[in-house]
Amino acid sequence: MASPAPSATAGPPPMPTPPPSAYLTMLSMLILILAIPLRQDVRDQVFGTSGNATPTMSGFVEQALTVSEDLASTVMKGFSPRSIPVFATLAREFAVFDRWFSSLPGPTQPNRLFVYSATSRGATSHDKWSLARGYPQRTIFDSLHDDGLDFNVYFEAAPCTLFYRNMRKLKFARKFHKYGTFLDHARDGRLASLSVIEPRYFDLSGKPANDDHPSHDVANGQKLVKEVYEALRSSPQWNESLLVITYDEHGGFYDHVVTPYAGVPSPDGITGPSGFGFDRLGVRVPTIMVSPWIKRGTVVRRPLGPEKNSEFEHSSIPATIKKMFNLTAGFLTQRDAWSGTFEGVVRNLASPRTDCPMVLPDVAPLRNTGADENRPLSEFQREVVELASVLVGDRSLGTSSHEKAGKAMTVKEADEYVNSAVWSFLRASEEAINMGVDESAIIDVVSPIDARNRVP
Ligand SMILES: *[C@@H]1O[C@H](CO)[C@@H](O)[C@H](O)[C@H]1NC(C)=O
Ligand SMILES: *[C@@H]1O[C@H](CO)[C@@H](O)[C@H](O)[C@H]1NC(C)=O
Repeated sequence: MASPAPSATAGPPPMPTPPPSAYLTMLSMLILILAIPLRQDVRDQVFGTSGNATPTMSGFVEQALTVSEDLASTVMKGFSPRSIPVFATLAREFAVFDRWFSSLPGPTQPNRLFVYSATSRGATSHDKWSLARGYPQRTIFDSLHDDGLDFNVYFEAAPCTLFYRNMRKLKFARKFHKYGTFLDHARDGRLASLSVIEPRYFDLSGKPANDDHPSHDVANGQKLVKEVYEALRSSPQWNESLLVITYDEHGGFYDHVVTPYAGVPSPDGITGPSGFGFDRLGVRVPTIMVSPWIKRGTVVRRPLGPEKNSEFEHSSIPATIKKMFNLTAGFLTQRDAWSGTFEGVVRNLASPRTDCPMVLPDVAPLRNTGADENRPLSEFQREVVELASVLVGDRSLGTSSHEKAGKAMTVKEADEYVNSAVWSFLRASEEAINMGVDESAIIDVVSPIDARNRVP
């Protein structure tokens, strides 16, 4: 069948048709100093330790000095373009955002929740039990699904998107895949409307973590981005794709740009502990976007709307998905209704570029030590273990003795435990689907996990 003749009218160049079909979001990488309790810190960093009424961005060193002198010098440092050659190349070749903020001045998990649901439902810190039970809010995945659009989550060990309770429903069980499947889908042109890529959170020898959490080698994060880019670049879907790379929060590093604090709408009116109203944003994070529809060397500043004071922040992702896919569902919260959308970044060219590099530079290790598989878990890794234990109904793990056990697990043990639990859950969900169980159910797995993986 012939495609419709191109129209000869002047005006803005047409959007590619169909609209970009693959947003590949890598929202799980961050440069973070995990050893400090972040919630209080961000406040001191932003307002200064003498408690100014408006942000001064003057407290980073003071705050770090309360931990150690080393940390005080670390928070003022950054990476040179030479040590992160993949980002340096992508930023030159495509678009970098210079005013993209984390959604709240807090740590990883609440910021990550904003990415697909435009709220953390009152969480300003890592609320272990809420995470394990699953957050109840609607997500952009539900909105896509309701309109018959497909999405996939590609993960290593465990997908953090399962921290949303809805994502555990049978109807989504077939959306979860091993990371390697992403490479197959990209090669075969089978990428869905939305693809989420989750990095590896556990550092093993031969299988290094690539999520940029300290003490993991940032070079491995660079290698992951390189692999994702190259797979997409040689995919038959390259011309319809937009890759979004961002960080959930700033990891404690210094920034001079004042975090927006006036007129930021609370997502849903839920206040956090100590009365935090979700009425200001967190510190800026790096955000890079890649598409053949992006002009070389683009720097994206403030959004043009929808409100005068709108900003780019994590809720910009669901807001833009809603807009670009013309979703019937309304906004998820007041926050995505307010945040800037970035569809404009792929609307400046009349046709896709043909000069985008096929390969990105090689990456040299930045860390000169190997993975320490026997180190204890970080707070974040313990949350992933809790998630896994809830998924498989491992009630022995849902107790305070479990809490101790989770702490006692090594990285290697946790990786095995989590892998086994997540796949038990997905397999049991698959069986339930085949048995005709209602698709809105969440499967209750009663400890099918191999005893060998139990914590003693
Ligand atoms: C992408 O578009 C360019 C320009 O029209 C074309 O030369 C190229 O073959 C297309 N690539 C794919 C994978 O369709
Ligand atoms: C968006 O969807 C509405 C119906 O929900 C439809 O009326 C409208 O034409 C669509 N717009 C585009 C650009 O597809």
